[in-house]
Amino acid sequence: MLNTILIYESKYGSTEEIIKIMAKILGPAHYYTVDEYKEKKPDGDLFIIGSPIYREEPDQKILKFITENTEWLKQKKVALFCTCLRGAGSHQYLKPLQTYIGKGVIASKALRGRLVIDKLDKFDYDNFMAFCIKNVCSFQDVDLINTREIIDYALYLKKIKDTTSKMPQHQVRIHIEEFIQNHDTCTLSTGIGDRVRGTPIEYTYRGGYLYILSEGGEKFANILLNNNVAISIYDPFQGMNQLGGMQIRGRAFLVEENTSEYREIIAMKGIAYEKLVQFPAKLYAIKVKIKEVEFIWYKFKEMGYEIKQYYHFEDG
Ligand SMILES: Cc1cc2nc3c(=O)[nH]c(=O)nc-3n(C[C@H](O)[C@H](O)[C@H](O)COP(=O)(O)O)c2cc1C
Repeated sequence: MLNTILIYESKYGSTEEIIKIMAKILGPAHYYTVDEYKEKKPDGDLFIIGSPIYREEPDQKILKFITENTEWLKQKKVALFCTCLRGAGSHQYLKPLQTYIGKGVIASKALRGRLVIDKLDKFDYDNFMAFCIKNVCSFQDVDLINTREIIDYALYLKKIKDTTSKMPQHQVRIHIEEFIQNHDTCTLSTGIGDRVRGTPIEYTYRGGYLYILSEGGEKFANILLNNNVAISIYDPFQGMNQLGGMQIRGRAFLVEENTSEYREIIAMKGIAYEKLVQFPAKLYAIKVKIKEVEFIWYKFKEMGYEIKQYYHFEDG
């Protein structure tokens, strides 16, 4: 799987906090301070460099690292971020870093950080006080860390990372459909607020839809209020070189009884419609329109592609 390397400096800890969040989302990943990285020099498919801003400038160690390693960084996919307190115009802090790496930079973002007065060393304390007096702003702690903003940026980078080594989309769809049809049971995840549920359930697939029959239960309480669902279908674990599993995002719709669509679903499941009256309970039909699939399959690798492939089903 594509490897992410995160390199950072963080005098007071907020950039490190951001790096740790991003590494979790962008895994497999490792994070290093500049010195730690220099020691090991691991290679990666995506490099993320995070620098705090002090006195209107990126961290000097980060700046030096970039200037000393420009040549190979230019050949890599590099994403940048800085951590600072300024809102509007803060993107300009990234310019010196961007200039060196040039086209290698696939994304950059200024993220908001934190300043805790008690943590500052004497020099920074005096500096910040002077800044506050000069700019008539209050000398107090500031916490602007925005976890949502960090996660959104990490997810954005993950999408870019995962589009590397893509199999042609029509082929991905064929393999996805084959995998779905070679299985018959999924985990249907539904949720609303803090009520979440992962239901193991049998399905049938046809033309971009999964069809499910159920006698009822809590999943309906969720779907009726939020029809966004996630579905996993997977092989039992047999080792890292034989991974096979997909995550599906889609929308669930309840199919009314006594409609031709309901009859079709019943027939698809091999049940004679007339026999339904003999069933001890009513059977409700759910159809899930698949929106997108994220598919990890060892065979993609054998075919010369990245092990994880995505497919977006058409809207409508
Ligand atoms: C000495 C000092 C100078 C700073 N100068 C700026 C600045 O010029 N612009 C800004 O937006 N934030 C500035 N900040 C805020 C930091 O960028 C912010 O606290 C950041 O989260 C620090 O990252 P760290 O916790 O990883 O060290 C400054 C903070 C300190 C301590």
